[in-house]
Amino acid sequence: MTERQRQTPYLDALCEYARRRPARLHVPGHKGGPGADPGLVDAFGERALSLDIPALTYGIDVGVEPSPFEQAQRLAAEAWGARRAWFLVNGASQGNLAAGLALAHYGREVVVQRNAHSSTIDALVLSGLRPTFAAPELDAELGIAHCLTAATLERALAATPLALAAWVVSPTYFGAVADVRALAAVAHARGVPLIVDEAWGAHMAFHEQLPEHALAAGADLVISSTHKIVGSLTQSAMLHLGGAGGGAIGEDVVDRAVTLTESTSPSALLAGSLDAARRQAAVHGRELLDGTMAALALARAQIRAIDGLDVLDDRLAGRPGVFAYDPLRLAVDVRGVAASGYELAPLLREIDDINLELYGQNVLVAVFGMGERGVPEAARLVAALRTAVQRVGTDPGGERASFAAPPPWGELAMTPREAYLGAQEVIPAARAPGRIAAESLATYPPGIPNVLPGERLTAQTLSYVQRTLELGGSVRGASDRLLRTVRVVIE
Ligand SMILES: Cc1ncc(COP(=O)(O)O)c(C=O)c1O
Repeated sequence: MTERQRQTPYLDALCEYARRRPARLHVPGHKGGPGADPGLVDAFGERALSLDIPALTYGIDVGVEPSPFEQAQRLAAEAWGARRAWFLVNGASQGNLAAGLALAHYGREVVVQRNAHSSTIDALVLSGLRPTFAAPELDAELGIAHCLTAATLERALAATPLALAAWVVSPTYFGAVADVRALAAVAHARGVPLIVDEAWGAHMAFHEQLPEHALAAGADLVISSTHKIVGSLTQSAMLHLGGAGGGAIGEDVVDRAVTLTESTSPSALLAGSLDAARRQAAVHGRELLDGTMAALALARAQIRAIDGLDVLDDRLAGRPGVFAYDPLRLAVDVRGVAASGYELAPLLREIDDINLELYGQNVLVAVFGMGERGVPEAARLVAALRTAVQRVGTDPGGERASFAAPPPWGELAMTPREAYLGAQEVIPAARAPGRIAAESLATYPPGIPNVLPGERLTAQTLSYVQRTLELGGSVRGASDRLLRTVRVVIE
């Protein structure tokens, strides 16, 4: 950590502007507070409104170079070890969209991990890229998908000689971390860059006991959802270009893709929070993570001591598609309890207003922030779980409902963009086999899309989705959540 990391040039410039009470003859119309609804001032506080300063303000974003905004992004690049970092105000979702548009400058084909976030699929729609999908490892016991193995990536790249990049996710929602070093080696051996959606792993750069973060492991472009665990304001995120030269991806190309996907009025509050969160992570991250990891280790031990419950932890590492485990998630395995995750989540809310990040049939996921230390919240979760299990009872034979592996996905008949934007109609699901989907269908569990726009629907896939719904699962992406109808392309 360099001394520079203690500075927050952008946040300081915002504060200095607000302090000197300038004539604000610019947007936003609330003028830093006076024009705002009193209820808003009461809720947000005068201070927050006074810092809501537009981009292109002299001395903050423009003026003497490097401006405080540029300096803040340089410090972020330094903190994560990137060649260049961009602040994003539309989440890691924007990072994925920008990545797709940047890649489309170099060709048309790309290898993509099948269970990528929906914003990656949106990026395919926007960019017109033609994907070759690579299947993540499926954990049939837990009913969740893990990461991509190097061998799977190698096969997908071999099948796609014109691929211009490989695009993977690590860590997953559940904390599984890929062997990014091996994935990068495979991609680089074929002369293509590796894009890593590290939305869930921005904190991993700041503690040596955490799994290696993607930039350090050789990734070329990394999407980072800084708000998720590092704790900037919701919707703020970063895009990092690899320090090793970014492979084939040019800085100027990423820059124009970020601009295209961004409002011309990015929020200073979001950007200011990124500057501050970067300082907190760089200066205090190690110590804060120490505290949080210790609290979560204790909570894990307490949860494992509750009859019927288990947790996901380091023991997962070594399973297919899991190289390491990120402990900043507290994922609870509820298979030994006489209620599913879908039933337990509302019960926890009722017991002690416990609001989880995610829950599925077999696993509940609680997320902890880097600086939160997690102690009181983890204790509440443990106590509420204990009460919940007392109420519903255990189910010792509960290896139940292990979900059948999904059928293979259909042939890609046109690009996601062509399908999404082409002429389309909504038809009964019974008539859909053989037609090209204009929408996604992703059953949970395990959350791997069964159908993506541009793929031909098969009877086997449609009945698998229907069966998952009957078993209490859900389907995302579908215009009709009960799958009575499907949106298809008119050929
Ligand atoms: C893997 C992954 N990528 C991208 C995103 C999008 O992040 P954001 O909500 O910051 O736009 C998410 C959100 O959950 C995600 O899980």
